[in-house]
Amino acid sequence: MNTLYIDAGQPGACKTAARILREGGIVAIPTETVYGLAANALNPDAVAKIFRAKGRPQDNPLIVHVSSLDEIPPLVSEVKPELYALAEKFWPGPLTVIMKKSALVPDEVTAGLDTVAIRMPSHPAAREIIKESGLPLAAPSANASGRPSPTKAEHVKADLDGRIDAVIDGGDCSVGVESTVISLVSDPPVLLRPGGISPAQLEQVLGRVEISHAVFEKLEKGEKAQSPGMKYKHYAPKAKVTIIKGSFESYSRFLLAQKYRTCAVCFDGEGSAFECAVEYGAKDDAASQAEHIFDALRRVDGTGCEYAFVRCPDTEGVGLAVYNRLLRSAAFRVIDLEFSRPVFGLTGQSGAGKTTIGEVFASQGFNVIDTDALARKAVTDSEVLAELKEYFGDDIIINGELDRRRLAGRAFSSPEKTLLLNKATHPEITRLTVEEIHKGEQRGARASIIDAPVLFESPLACICAKTVCVTAPREERIKRLAQRDGISESEIEARLSAQKNEADYVAKSDYIIENINPSDAEKAVIKFITEELK
Ligand code: TXA
Ligand code: MG
Repeated sequence: MNTLYIDAGQPGACKTAARILREGGIVAIPTETVYGLAANALNPDAVAKIFRAKGRPQDNPLIVHVSSLDEIPPLVSEVKPELYALAEKFWPGPLTVIMKKSALVPDEVTAGLDTVAIRMPSHPAAREIIKESGLPLAAPSANASGRPSPTKAEHVKADLDGRIDAVIDGGDCSVGVESTVISLVSDPPVLLRPGGISPAQLEQVLGRVEISHAVFEKLEKGEKAQSPGMKYKHYAPKAKVTIIKGSFESYSRFLLAQKYRTCAVCFDGEGSAFECAVEYGAKDDAASQAEHIFDALRRVDGTGCEYAFVRCPDTEGVGLAVYNRLLRSAAFRVIDLEFSRPVFGLTGQSGAGKTTIGEVFASQGFNVIDTDALARKAVTDSEVLAELKEYFGDDIIINGELDRRRLAGRAFSSPEKTLLLNKATHPEITRLTVEEIHKGEQRGARASIIDAPVLFESPLACICAKTVCVTAPREERIKRLAQRDGISESEIEARLSAQKNEADYVAKSDYIIENINPSDAEKAVIKFITEELK
């Protein structure tokens, strides 16, 4: 199909859009939040076209857009007084209200639910198109399902060109994130999706408002979504996104320590510190971040980076909506670099006895983090598994379980393959490690120490205040490995020669603990702790 592009300012633009809509077509229209893909809400065939064009899951209901309050009673089975109070204050504007539906609203719009979502947008072109068509318009965001929502006509074109009848170009959307969704069906009312209207603003009108836990958290497996749209991975660029909490200083240090090409998604004026960056609004201005976030996520794709690290926004006001969208684009990955207790690193060659030294630290109230254990946990993450399947074949999963032997066989068959294994797992191991640091702080640990054989090859080194290297003579290490792992001398030799030599570890570490005599080693640990935690 040939998609028509019409400037909203062109005479007759809204009339043309209205005519196409009355004839059962689908048209992308500008709203103050994001562009919507509109169809006659009372025509199931037209509504079905929206789902096809977007590739939207059938169970995700649409919002019905109206231009005046009189259009609402026929669409709902009951009008609560709260609706008028909300409308008085926030309509036309970025608020969607869920109510019990009437029989007039087709199941195609509500995905079979007995409720309907209604919004009165404020964008003049949207209002005129609704009025001119004389119809309630079902309209989800006009992006391909899963992609960032469109805030410019060119975003709609990039996703839906040739799949829809027309695009009305009304310029850039001013709010930039989708409307706040509040359900009046439950008591107290529940905020299902944060947006342009903040929870505090809603509470001024409604009294207590509950915030659905799906705003902040991944749904449990099998849990039914109150708002089906919240269960999908969403707003995602092609790059793997992670939110980074903390100061700009810790953010930039961490980003510059990354091993893979990573796009900095940061605030205005910060981007010049990085090789590759996309800025998404002014630092202390949530409204400006909301306006630019989706465009920024789309621009990440243009950088060709496979990873993107986003500066965490404040969650006040519309900032909550920005954070909520980012959480979904990041599949809930957050790395919080703000630590309340010191963090150290513990490294050394195989057989040097990191574990034994770690036990001494643990006995002194340290949170000792075993990155080998976290490596085993990392491969249970669904995105990591998907990446491993891509590199090493679908048959590394048998009956839903990872076949670790088969994976190891393939991943260690060549240095290039090993790099692919690292690429799939190391970012998740890093995230899990930081999570363990925070868990330790909550438990009241004095400090954390990260036990990692390849600490210096990892971005984790940059969060360690000091690194401790454990050493032991080569013969001693060989003896210990033979005892511990029961492997032959030649296998041990192979393993040791695959590692960096001792001098390399020593040169990069701040503190050396020679682990030959247990009581000397223990004394060295205590000396280190006394000096560092004084
Ligand atoms: O700002 C906006 O709301 C934009 C513009 C175009 O108006 N529209 C928009 O639509 O964001 P969409 O389809 O991308 O998101 C609608 C959200 C989804 O999360 C959906 O699950 C939820 O609203 N929703 C719709 N009807 C619902 C209902 N009856 N009950 C609960 N959630 C509902
Ligand atoms: Mg959407």
